[in-house]
Amino acid sequence: MPRALVLATGNPGKLAELLRGLEPLSREGIIELLTPSSFPSVPFPPETGSSYRENATAKAQWWACRTGRLALADDSGLEVAWLAGAPGVHSDSWAGPGASSMDKNRRLLEALHGAADRRAVFRCCLALAWPDGRLCHFEGACEGTITERARGRNGFGYDPLFQVLAPGRTLAELDPEDKDRLSHRGRALGALRRLLESEPEAIEGTRGCG
Ligand code: IMP
Repeated sequence: MPRALVLATGNPGKLAELLRGLEPLSREGIIELLTPSSFPSVPFPPETGSSYRENATAKAQWWACRTGRLALADDSGLEVAWLAGAPGVHSDSWAGPGASSMDKNRRLLEALHGAADRRAVFRCCLALAWPDGRLCHFEGACEGTITERARGRNGFGYDPLFQVLAPGRTLAELDPEDKDRLSHRGRALGALRRLLESEPEAIEGTRGCG
């Protein structure tokens, strides 16, 4: 019987990437993937932490505790050199409550108007929480630059403005599989996948997972 894992996110773009990244483990019978839609009475938690790790941990523990299942949560953000690392952990909310991806991208372009340095890094922290309180983390980063205009139609969020150093295309211009290979989330998921493929017993808790 594979162990059930709740993908604890309400962001459809993230959910699609988590499902893609963990599909091989589900195919191998190591885990059964569940989404928040299987638990309609569980609300999404507020996000109040001051680091990706703190937020990812709080979200994963919230879902593990309320569903009695293993839960995986993502917290991520875009750090822009010219903005001294902003919007960072506030990437979701910095353009105001209810702002769309287009609003956020517009705000980012305005903030970088005339900027001499357009370097940026995407960061992701994944937290895996067990209902018994055990916890582990996986991290990934992706370096790039902020373009002067949006390019591409794939992905979500800031993807149309984030150009990856190589191959010099925005994340929104890449096929999903190529984004997964290069992105902050893809890298963090790779670390989780490698652990569970090499030590599937880690998921049962007989081995630590760093
Ligand atoms: P949070 O992790 O829920 O706080 O949200 C992070 C925010 O960062 C998202 O809502 C997006 O705006 C942005 N973000 C995180 N990862 C990505 C990505 O892979 N592509 C584009 N935007 C992202």
